[in-house]
Amino acid sequence: PHKKIKKICCIGAGYVGGPTCSVIAMKNPNVQVTIVDLNAQRIESWNSDELPIYEPGLDEVVKESRGRNLFFSTGVDQAIIEADLIFVSVNTPTKYTGIGAGYAADLGYVEAATRQIAWLATSDKIVVEKSTVPCRTAQSMRVILEANAKPGVRFDILSNPEFLAEGTAISDLIKPDRVLIGSLDTEEGRAAAASLADIYASWVPRGQIITMNVWSSELSKLAANAFLAQRISSINALSAICEATGADIDEVSYACGLDSRIGPKFLKASVGFGGSCFQKDILNLVYLSESLHLPEVAQYWRQVVDMNEYQKRRFTNRIISSLFNTLTGKKIAIFGFAFKKDTGDTRESPAITLVKYFRAEKALVSIYDPKVEESQIWMDLCEPGIVDDLPALQKQVSIAASAYQAAEKADAVVICTEWEEFKDTRLDYEQIYDGMKKPAFIFDGRLVLNEKRLKKIGFKVETIGRPGESLRNPEFE
Ligand code: UDX
Ligand code: UDX
Ligand code: ADP
Repeated sequence: PHKKIKKICCIGAGYVGGPTCSVIAMKNPNVQVTIVDLNAQRIESWNSDELPIYEPGLDEVVKESRGRNLFFSTGVDQAIIEADLIFVSVNTPTKYTGIGAGYAADLGYVEAATRQIAWLATSDKIVVEKSTVPCRTAQSMRVILEANAKPGVRFDILSNPEFLAEGTAISDLIKPDRVLIGSLDTEEGRAAAASLADIYASWVPRGQIITMNVWSSELSKLAANAFLAQRISSINALSAICEATGADIDEVSYACGLDSRIGPKFLKASVGFGGSCFQKDILNLVYLSESLHLPEVAQYWRQVVDMNEYQKRRFTNRIISSLFNTLTGKKIAIFGFAFKKDTGDTRESPAITLVKYFRAEKALVSIYDPKVEESQIWMDLCEPGIVDDLPALQKQVSIAASAYQAAEKADAVVICTEWEEFKDTRLDYEQIYDGMKKPAFIFDGRLVLNEKRLKKIGFKVETIGRPGESLRNPEFE
């Protein structure tokens, strides 16, 4: 006999907590869901018509339940006190100082939220770790909760990692491949897992809700992201071979993907992966491996991140050499600043790295992205702690209102994000060509363009994973 959940609190109204708990509220109209955050501005926008994150379908989901059984609030304490079940969905950034700097996750926010729960709770709570965290975090949370619990108050800890991808968060949540719940292998642990499973069972078939021990659950999340990132680094490593030999990476990935053991998804070569999870989670895995005295394992996974850095550098080098080995004073139009299409998120976006490389070469850069906020771009490009950075930056970098404007008088267009609107069936590349300096170059870092069509217009086209002009035409050198 397990408890039926009536009130849920979600601590952290970010990219994970916001969409996830909005879908939970939509699918469980009889459960009260309160999403809380310390950031008052973020909560205000969750309560407005301009949600703080762009995600296809999210507006409809929020509108259906907000004010009915879905609430966004800064009243963290009250929501914790009232809830039967609490999702901890706070940020876990990579540490930049101290032990494990550059690798380990900073668990300060998780611990603060955990202590707050322990301090406030006057009734039993199921506490669910939702943020991606290193293995054994649930254990630490349990120790903190139990050491600070009021007499008679019981805490059960669950791990329930989220697998949604940005840009497809709502469809991923509504039709997940699986829901994973990790619990202690005790009667109480299993009962808590069953209570949470009931919430998901409102829309997810029972067979897809799987339970296991907490540590397996925590490691599965890191492992899944590591596998996915590894596929991209593998295909990107092969893209370098393609460029040097005359093979075409799209053909290679198609051929490989037809093997049912490999599968076709996540084999798209690119200028590099970005996003808040892949790099962070792999570095977490590297750090974990090193702490467990498994240096070979650490080295194996670290290579996935190294390859990703190499890909960004390699693509930049190809751009520089195509542009006659100098970018000084040249205008480069960047199409796309988000780390992938259909999101306004720029965390770890390859475009950030590329713009920094172009700046170092003294290029003038004009950036266009359909969803990223201007202020975000400036924040991403400023080096923290450098006072004069913004004025210097703005001498070299501008933000355009359209792809056409970005490409006006440019020497080259560089596609960094695979937005649908950049396809040659959507944008008028003849108009873009006419406005550019000649020879007009396009560098396709996302394999979104039809090379033949663009060449016919007059462009010099260089695509990731396809042989460059010099290989195709030896006289070009
Ligand atoms: C392989 C490829 O599968 C095949 O497509 C290609 O044509 C030839 O190479 P083969 O070497 O005969 O075939 O056997 P395979 O089933 O791939 O196994 C190779 C090795 O990997 C074996 O030692 C097997 O035990 C091991 N293996 C396979 C694992 O350790 N774990 C697995 O999950 C799968
Ligand atoms: C990822 C995982 O997919 C998700 O399950 C997890 O919960 C969080 O991390 P996300 O980072 O939002 O999701 O997006 P994802 O679609 O995985 O893309 C990550 C990066 O890889 C993007 O920069 C994307 O452009 C790149 N990518 C993806 C490729 O370069 N090639 C591909 O084939 C797929
Ligand atoms: P993710 O991508 O994992 O969802 P975000 O950074 O988008 O991460 O969101 C995490 C949110 O958690 C932030 O909005 C932050 O303000 C919030 N947060 C962090 N600590 C607390 C806390 N103790 N109480 C309430 N909100 C918190």
